Amino acid sequence: MLQVQKQISVAIFASGTGSNAEALIRLSRLNTSYYKVVMVLTNKEQAGIYEVANRMHIPIEYLTDPKDSSRMGELLQKNNVQVIALAGYLRLLPADIVRHFDGRIINIHPSLLPEYGGRGMYGDTIHMAIYNDKKPYTGITVHYVDEYFDTGSGLCQSKISINECDTVEKIAEKVKKVEHEVYPLMLNQLCKIIYSQQ
Ligand code: GRF
Repeated sequence: MLQVQKQISVAIFASGTGSNAEALIRLSRLNTSYYKVVMVLTNKEQAGIYEVANRMHIPIEYLTDPKDSSRMGELLQKNNVQVIALAGYLRLLPADIVRHFDGRIINIHPSLLPEYGGRGMYGDTIHMAIYNDKKPYTGITVHYVDEYFDTGSGLCQSKISINECDTVEKIAEKVKKVEHEVYPLMLNQLCKIIYSQQ
């Protein structure tokens, strides 16, 4: 079996329950992984992500002001971060960070963008809107991150049938399951490309 010798250093930015962060860290520990998670960054003082990071022995940094690009840059540099994966991070990234990591910041969004995207569209707000619109399907999008909400170019989408989901919670659960499968694979794919270009 392929054993990757040197891995791309990834920072996860997360402020929620951390379930996607956990899925990303899990894949990083397989010997086929092209990335290792070197740090988690959060802008929340209390969130599930702390429990995930501690349990999985990943250093977690709290950033008081998400607009403070010099502190953010310092933390990323200190950990030699090459790629950033947003996983439930709800703030825009400073423009200079976006420029510095051009093509090396990705996000996962729980809808088929551009549908149900933009400022304020996250978590259950999205699932509720889809439920109210009586959509037979929803989906997820993995995309590059720019300076705006959910407008970076897409890397992949998965369409998810929700015909049988009669509550918002069931939609949310089904979407999360797909996120946990797809996001680590996409991050690994991106890191494999970056690895091959080094
Ligand atoms: C996920 O639904 C993801 O698509 C979105 O934020 C949510 C984070 O959930 N960007 P979790 O904290 O990973 O459970």
